[in-house]
Amino acid sequence: MELNEIKNIIKNMTLEEKIYQLQQLTPEFFQNDIETKLTGPLQEMEIDKNVINNTGSILAAYDAKTIKNIQKEYLKNNRNKIPLLFMDDVIHGFKTIFPIPLGLACSWDIELVEKCASISAKEAAVSGIHVTFSPMVDLVRDPRWGRVMESTGEDPYLNSQFAKAFVKGYQGDNSFSDIFKIACCVKHFAGYGACEAGRDYNTVDISERFLYEFYLPSYKAAIDQGCEMVMSAFNLIDGIPTSANKKLFRDILRNEWGFKGVTISDWNAVEEILINGVAESKQDAAKKAIEAGIDIEMMSTNYANYLKNLVENKIIDESLIDEAVERILTLKNKLGLFENPYRTADEELEKKYHLCPEHRATAREAAANSMVLLKNDEVLPLKKDAKIALIGPYSDNKNILGRWSDRGDPENSITLKEGILSKITYKDNLIVEEGCKLNQKQYDTNDEQLLNNAFIACKEADVIILALGEDEDMTGEAASRADISIPDNQIRLAEKILEAGKPVILVLFNGRPLVLKWFNEKMSAILEAWFPGTEGGNAIADILFGDVNPSGKLTMSFPYNVGQIPVYYNSFNTGRPKIPGEDNKYTTCFLDIPNEPLYPFGYGLSYTRYKYSNLSLNKESFTYGENIIATVEIENIGNYSGFEIVQWYIRDIAGSVARPVKELKGFEKIFLKPGEKKKVEFVITEEKLKFYTIDMSYKAEKGRFKLFVGGNSVDLIEAEFKFI
Ligand code: BGC
Repeated sequence: MELNEIKNIIKNMTLEEKIYQLQQLTPEFFQNDIETKLTGPLQEMEIDKNVINNTGSILAAYDAKTIKNIQKEYLKNNRNKIPLLFMDDVIHGFKTIFPIPLGLACSWDIELVEKCASISAKEAAVSGIHVTFSPMVDLVRDPRWGRVMESTGEDPYLNSQFAKAFVKGYQGDNSFSDIFKIACCVKHFAGYGACEAGRDYNTVDISERFLYEFYLPSYKAAIDQGCEMVMSAFNLIDGIPTSANKKLFRDILRNEWGFKGVTISDWNAVEEILINGVAESKQDAAKKAIEAGIDIEMMSTNYANYLKNLVENKIIDESLIDEAVERILTLKNKLGLFENPYRTADEELEKKYHLCPEHRATAREAAANSMVLLKNDEVLPLKKDAKIALIGPYSDNKNILGRWSDRGDPENSITLKEGILSKITYKDNLIVEEGCKLNQKQYDTNDEQLLNNAFIACKEADVIILALGEDEDMTGEAASRADISIPDNQIRLAEKILEAGKPVILVLFNGRPLVLKWFNEKMSAILEAWFPGTEGGNAIADILFGDVNPSGKLTMSFPYNVGQIPVYYNSFNTGRPKIPGEDNKYTTCFLDIPNEPLYPFGYGLSYTRYKYSNLSLNKESFTYGENIIATVEIENIGNYSGFEIVQWYIRDIAGSVARPVKELKGFEKIFLKPGEKKKVEFVITEEKLKFYTIDMSYKAEKGRFKLFVGGNSVDLIEAEFKFI
């Protein structure tokens, strides 16, 4: 359909019909008994059948049969025959669940992330989904926030690479000629990750400079990749709820970045403008949101109830509604819904693709690549004939998919026990004990018995695998924690089994960086497995027994102590930096803990070791239009083949405004056999040196720079160059 045909449809629509296109509801509104519901439990939404017959989109319907039925019935009642758009939170997989995004990011594998997104799109498309509410690209520095699990971490450059990879995986070439591609929605615009104290929905206050430098690049990257939709966030920015924030949605998104797609509020967020105290009434909230540039209202009904009045009383111009409708119909048209409102929805295709072996194989690869080996006193990898005690609430637990995997069924996931059993030579060599309940609330007298059984099992074993972590519900939305430790009852279990005097390998299932100081001291090895998804148990076993050499590296720092938060690598020097080893009280430091996190950004061990040497530059300085080529040698000096993530950072020594002590500018994942040495080249361009300068212009400033190269953000070799 051409644009003029869309415009014609809009011309023929009544004002009410246009306004209801801007409404998004859940599927319960499209069931037969809706009359009863609207006069009963849904009464507070103040909407009638007319709204439902003209609603523009649905969220959270998720199988082909249901979606086709809803669409069919809807089109019977819709005068203009405009099909519904179906959206869902497909965050890290649909039926085949991949590791949580924070885990996926630790693979530093852009192609792998794209592949996971592409599989997610395919599995969702065959179930009738047209749009996913992903990628979530909020930059995060506070692990108390439960939603860090949905993010790819603390670095703007890396987050931007992943933002693009997700969009490319979901949308392909953006033409939607491939019926297995779906549109995607970048969220939460903007700055949601900076909520104060990591408490969900809390106020955000960031300077314009920090917003542009750290928080906005990943949203922009998604837009530049062609992302079709943008979702607002729950927080205030500069005192204004994002859903009422003209500066964000009109000035930056549309005018500066040229975004042409659809915008949507987060769930109930238009109504919350009122609760935030930035609107006087629901009508005022609707006015503020539409003026700010929010096209679709998710789940609250202020547009449906008040926009008509606002137009009729000439408080807002009807053109605001027309432009929003045009964008929504344009997206429907791009997806081919006017020609085929059911698009890819097909029960047979669901059977063919959901959890098919190929998708499961990618889930296993992704999970193994996302795991980060935090410590290893040479106990790993394990021998396949070792006598193992597998202890802990995650030893044989299928709930390892992680939050935001609502279409995934834990029944399909492989537990750690199952993974280990498929590897070991003698099945009798494995004893499994729960040891304690996962959730402390479940603590009761049975715990003594569980603890003793675990202890007895440990005495028989050569080595203990201790599978601990957070309950899935302790992470995700509305799951902020002030104390980000392993729950006390699990620590008690760890203490008890240490008494057996055997090496203990801790395998962690969790959705955020945790405080692990005690475990770091006591455990022989620690493997961060995150919530690893459907193939979790197999992937962990691949690593524990050395079939896969761990290569994941953290994309978010693990604090030493909660009091240290926020702690992140790309911070600024104070005027009184602490020099390690020097004793000077009047420097920037804590009296009781180090400044450095326990495990820094970029960190992760391997079963082998890599040596970095001979960092050289082809020239000492460069100017506009030129570049410098840096070369470094990396040698595998251990006994295992492996992948190493070679990272390079720069530091602008003096700028018109202070610059971070390190900024990641690039990386490369390389494979090295034992004894093998490779040269890796990086190109330093003017583009890599750009930042928001004193007058907020984005450019490179002349001066001295440091280049750092290494396998994490701390252990680095360095060189210097000039931009002249
Ligand atoms: C979340 C969004 C999500 C939406 C729809 C909200 O509560 O903040 O991230 O996409 O619900 O499920």
